Amino acid sequence: MQFSLKHNIPESARGACQIITVTQARKLSSSGLRVDKASKGYLSSILKRGDMEGKAGQTLLLPSIPGLAVQRVLLVGCGKESEMNERVFARIIDSIATALANCGARDAEFYPADVSLKGRDLAWKIRQAALLLSNAEYRFEQLKSSKPSPRKGLRKLNINVANKDASRAKQAINEATAISAGMSLARDLGNLPANVCTPSYIAKQARLLAKGEKRLRVNVLDEADMKRLKMGSLLSVSAGSRQPAKLISLEYRGAAAKQQPVALVGKGVTFDTGGISLKPGAAMDEMKFDMCGAASVVGTIKAVSQMQLPINVVGIIPATENMPDGLATRPGDIVTSMSGQTIEILNTDAEGRLILCDALTYAAKFKPRCVIDIATLTGACIIALGKIPSAVLGNNRALINDLQKSGQQIDDKIWELPLWDEYQDQIKSNFADMANIGGRDAGTITAACFLSRFTGDYKWAHLDIAGTAWKSGEDKGATGRPVPLLTQYILNQVDK
Ligand code: BES
Ligand code: MN
Ligand code: ZN
Repeated sequence: MQFSLKHNIPESARGACQIITVTQARKLSSSGLRVDKASKGYLSSILKRGDMEGKAGQTLLLPSIPGLAVQRVLLVGCGKESEMNERVFARIIDSIATALANCGARDAEFYPADVSLKGRDLAWKIRQAALLLSNAEYRFEQLKSSKPSPRKGLRKLNINVANKDASRAKQAINEATAISAGMSLARDLGNLPANVCTPSYIAKQARLLAKGEKRLRVNVLDEADMKRLKMGSLLSVSAGSRQPAKLISLEYRGAAAKQQPVALVGKGVTFDTGGISLKPGAAMDEMKFDMCGAASVVGTIKAVSQMQLPINVVGIIPATENMPDGLATRPGDIVTSMSGQTIEILNTDAEGRLILCDALTYAAKFKPRCVIDIATLTGACIIALGKIPSAVLGNNRALINDLQKSGQQIDDKIWELPLWDEYQDQIKSNFADMANIGGRDAGTITAACFLSRFTGDYKWAHLDIAGTAWKSGEDKGATGRPVPLLTQYILNQVDK
């Protein structure tokens, strides 16, 4: 989808389509009123007839209106002004895409100032509309043998704003374009099956991203390197797989070398069978999405690098499969992590924390201003919060607050769970410093408790994206979350 900025007055539109909003009941927007006048009351006569009440998401396509140069007008209902919110806004944008999906119009004029949404400025509406439209356009078709037929529908949205708003609007479009490119990359990596998207494949994609980008540097450690670094915990997960593990770091340098980077650590389990603690068969295919944390890190770095933000960011990705081969780790095995702490592995299916703990220890070497890890870590997270927000836990109030604010800003929500000391007792072990599981109660929290023991003295937050990284059922596929949240957080950190 292409977005271009225009300053045209509505009655002189001459393209394929013009989007005019109507609120309930039957009230035309200010652009709508001008178009109505130019068409000698055509629009208001349609409204009077009752063909369009203005309910949120309702649409009516009107071709060849006498007196207008534009080929079509699409009337779009926005509902009652008092009931307008972010959800309704998303529904309106979605209904525009749907209404234009099967008509001949390739481009359309849009007037974002016509839609009023309490607490959101013009730039927000533009950015969100562009993000939603780009995201709706995403398809994953690279592994279908027949070339998909060229799609109909909207290709280009002309966003009309007053001259005084042009520079803010331009920035909103740029941000949306970069974030949706990042999301699209994250979704591709997530959707690729595990026989394609291996740890080596992720490393290759990281290198590809950095190619020709002076501000990006990639470093990939192999298993021998990890052994030298004494990453016994990470290696205990890859032991059962024939795919070699990789520890990928992707450094974006947009500011002075001395500026401390934001560190993003993403779980990259390219397939999670559970290992010797084998998972049941139902929906196991979805465990190809167990690297969506890693994908969100690559996607966010792409967005940040596309915007050329003046900030330093480092992405750290422990990538491995979790398989039950002959050398696989057994329940009861005790391993020594890079931090020196020993871990009794009571369940090999709690592997995410085993690779993240060594990556968190490793992260300290970048002297980060903060570390955010992102992981499809626990099924318990879906039980606790469902699939609406990601969970956030951490050791720093300001960092958690900043992340929550970022999530609200870009509508990629997170919700905090408590990381109280009392929960730490659940991961006691009779034989090692800790166990890798904490029983049925509060599974998301005890997983975070485990991670908290490896965060040294830096500010840290953990995002459990088990419920938000992908969708199941008919819409099965990666969502690209939380690329918007992470990118917004980094945008907010610029100049801080
Ligand atoms: N990748 C899974 C978590 C997961 C499961 C995410 C289903 C989304 C959907 C993780 O590695 C895992 O298996 N966690 C276990 C932990 C348990 C053994 C303590 C879980 O949640 O069951
Ligand atoms: Mn697992
Ligand atoms: Zn997993």
